[in-house]
This record gives sequence, C-alpha cells and structure tokens, in this order.
Amino acid sequence: ESSLKKKLPLTGKTALVTAGPTFEAIDPVRFIGNHSSGKMGFAIAERLHMLGADVTLVSGPTSQKLTYTGLKFIPVTSAAEMLDEVSANFESADVTVMSAAVADYRPKVVAQQKIKKESADLAIELEKTTDILATIGKQKKPGQLLIGFALETNDEESNAIKKIEKKNLDFIVLNSLNDHGAGFQGDENKITIIDRDHHKEYFSLKSKHQVAEDICNKILEALK
Ligand code: CTP
Ligand code: CA
Repeated sequence: ESSLKKKLPLTGKTALVTAGPTFEAIDPVRFIGNHSSGKMGFAIAERLHMLGADVTLVSGPTSQKLTYTGLKFIPVTSAAEMLDEVSANFESADVTVMSAAVADYRPKVVAQQKIKKESADLAIELEKTTDILATIGKQKKPGQLLIGFALETNDEESNAIKKIEKKNLDFIVLNSLNDHGAGFQGDENKITIIDRDHHKEYFSLKSKHQVAEDICNKILEALK
C-alpha cells in the first residue's frame, strides 16, 4: 500500500446530502419557496467529502458554490424533482443527510400562463408534497445511516422525537428559530442532536462549518 495516500475515515463510503429550499411553481413566473440558504447542507456535503466519502449533493435553488471539486452535484427545483433524485441515489448511500427545507405544499394546478390580476382576491389551492425523508426511511436497510433535520418553533424536542420515529431516523438535528442568531439565512446555527434513544446533545451557537463538523463527528461515532 502507498503510504502517500492516507486513508480517511469515510474512504469507501457513499454519502447523499440534500440542501436548500424547493420552489413550487404557481405559474410560469411565480413560485412558493422559503428562506433556506443551502449553507448548512453544502457545509455538510463538503465536510463528508473532506472525510473521504463519495458525496452526492442534491440541492434546490441556492446561490451557494462548492469550494471543492470531486462532489457530484445535482441541482433540482421542486420537491418532486428532489424526490426523484434522492430515490435514485438512496439505495447505494451508506450515509444520508436530509438538510433541505422541502416545501410541504405545492399548487394543485400550475397555471400554464401568467395569472392576471383580474379579481380582488386570489385563492391558490395547495396539495401536500411527498415526504422525501419518510419515503426513504421506509426503504432503509440495516447498515444505512439516515439523518434528518427538524425546524420547530414550539415543543421542539417532543416534535423532533416524533419525527425520529415517523421517518425511521438514526438521529435528528434540531434547530430552533427561537434561538437568536441561528436559522435559515445566517452563517451560524445552534443545534441539538437527538438520537433514537432520545439521548440529547446540546451544542452552542457556532458557524455552520463548525456545526457541520459536529454533525459529521456524530456520523463517524454512529458508524463505529
Ligand atoms: N422533509 C422531506 N420531504 C418533505 C418535507 C420534509 O424530506 N416533503 C424532510 C426535511 O428535509 C427534514 C425533515 O423532513 O430533514 C423534517 O422537516 P420538517 O419541515 O422539520 O418536518 P415535516 O415532517 O415537514 O413536518 P412540519 O413541517 O409539519 O413540522
Ligand atoms: Ca415541513
């Protein structure tokens, strides 16, 4: 063996990461979206890559740029497109981290032409999108690690714990919008990691790159 090529902790492992928001079309010029910047997911994908994993990053629309080459990048727009790409890549993934802020609802009908301001009010009927994480949670095989995120404003820990069960996760990363400085758009995040045994680990407010390191350390621990 060459001593020059040092073996990294995730060499030989395949990782799948989702990032960013999804955009759900209303008409050719409008969509329903959210404020996710994609920063957290990009930082996790790059950290897993640095640790030696073969990384596929599926991301909704963001202005983030990858700073490393060698990751497989799959851009998507809608929740339906993200579902297709995640489904195609999940079976071969040893580790999957779903940090995307997927839209929960989409317009039931997409107008083929721009909607004109004809009436005083406008109602757009919405339907639920497929829960991507719950879908792959059902397909998870022994040995596969599945990590979800939870964004809560109230009853945070009990809501996050319900998601661990419902989506068959190994652990969940809870971020609370109530925490000052943390959240969707900024460069910092404050998280709690909760595992299947409801064991909680609290982290301080830190940069999203440092948060990605904490999450990946937890992944390394879980793979042992
Ligand atoms: N998620 C997903 N597909 C969806 C919605 C959410 O894969 N259609 C994933 C997110 O990427 C995240 C996790 O599910 O990892 C939890 O997302 P969150 O919005 O906190 O929870 P929901 O299950 O959507 O429930 P709610 O928004 O009602 O709290
Ligand atoms: Ca949601």
